[in-house]
Amino acid sequence: MLNDTGLYIHYPWCVKKCPYCDFNSHPIKGEIDQEAYCTALLADWEAQQQAGDSFQSVFFGGGTPSLMHPAHVNTLLDTLPINSRAEVTLEVNPGTHEYMDFNDSRTSGINRLSIGAQSFDDTQLGNLGRVHQSADIVTAFKKARSAGFENINLDVMWGLPGQTVNAALQDLRCAIDLQPEHLSWYQLTIEAKTEFARRTPILPVEQAIYDIEKAGLELLADCGFKRYEISAFAQPDQQCQHNLNYWQFGDYLGLGAGAHGKRSDRRNGTLHPRRISKAHQPRMYLADPAAATEQPVDTDEIVLEFMMNALRLVDGVDWALFEQRTGHTKSDLAAKWSSLEEQKLVTANRCGATAKGLRYLDSILQVFI
Ligand SMILES: C[S@@+](CC[C@H](N)C(=O)[O-])C[C@H]1O[C@@H](n2cnc3c(N)ncnc32)[C@H](O)[C@@H]1O
Ligand code: SF4
Repeated sequence: MLNDTGLYIHYPWCVKKCPYCDFNSHPIKGEIDQEAYCTALLADWEAQQQAGDSFQSVFFGGGTPSLMHPAHVNTLLDTLPINSRAEVTLEVNPGTHEYMDFNDSRTSGINRLSIGAQSFDDTQLGNLGRVHQSADIVTAFKKARSAGFENINLDVMWGLPGQTVNAALQDLRCAIDLQPEHLSWYQLTIEAKTEFARRTPILPVEQAIYDIEKAGLELLADCGFKRYEISAFAQPDQQCQHNLNYWQFGDYLGLGAGAHGKRSDRRNGTLHPRRISKAHQPRMYLADPAAATEQPVDTDEIVLEFMMNALRLVDGVDWALFEQRTGHTKSDLAAKWSSLEEQKLVTANRCGATAKGLRYLDSILQVFI
């Protein structure tokens, strides 16, 4: 077991399903038995816990975890072994936080909020099927600040239907004006089996996508947001520790419907990671929260899995981390790495992609399949 394990807690319900979303989220139909879900999360924990567990970061994600009853968030944070200095994030949807008083959240131990803004243009929010308007984002943000939250992320999407460079920059400026510590700036992708896959809106053409990305990256850098992962930008020392652990191929425990975890055992000096996944459907999960499927990450896949995460980081990672987490050595990859280096896709000294490589990550990963 590694000593830097993260904890992810999934809340699988939303007010309604957004047409672009392929996360494990289900529109609320009728009453949710919040108590039963909290009890299930605790049973899930009982089944998965290991001696010595101590979580260095916690992330309540969704779905819409800001719909959770604050008392249940409290119970979970009181019961689970969380390091006193852990980063504890709650995802918040504007327009759904009313139930969750930000002052209560602060005192229960949540010290970081991630607010799903997506856009500050009400027409675009309508296109995206969001339940909130631009003004609700500003209200949620200001309330969070008044409650004392000093670490807030805003999620903003770009490449939205019909979006121009100016409109995308305007969205970013609105987000930056709120002075968050962190910004996640995601290009809208059309995911299979979503409503947008069935009736795809007209998205900006390739040249416009290139122009939006270039101009957005410049604006973020000018405003002091350092890009440290493909879509993640932080003010100095404000990187998301929970996500950094994923990208560094660390271990994490997943609780909740459809949650995934990765745990590694050390045997004879070698790490043996396995993936754990929980029932996707809330109904199935509630019926047997201890049930899980487990699969070892085999030695052939492990390099690819490591690269899929680590190469997203702008500065890459030390080769020592690669060796520690995969059981392979840098020299095992020598031929592949030097061919990628010749194409100027990866860096010479670190296990990392160049600026060009970040754009063509899929081509790099092909080499490790
Ligand atoms: C777990 S999701 C949703 C969090 C929260 N329920 C919300 O909607 O605000 C985290 C983020 O992923 C991004 N996201 C979701 N679907 C996406 C897609 N198809 N393309 C790009 N970004 C997406 C959104 O910015 C979203 O806030
Ligand atoms: S609110 Fe968030 S998790 Fe729920 S459907 Fe929309 S994007 Fe997905």
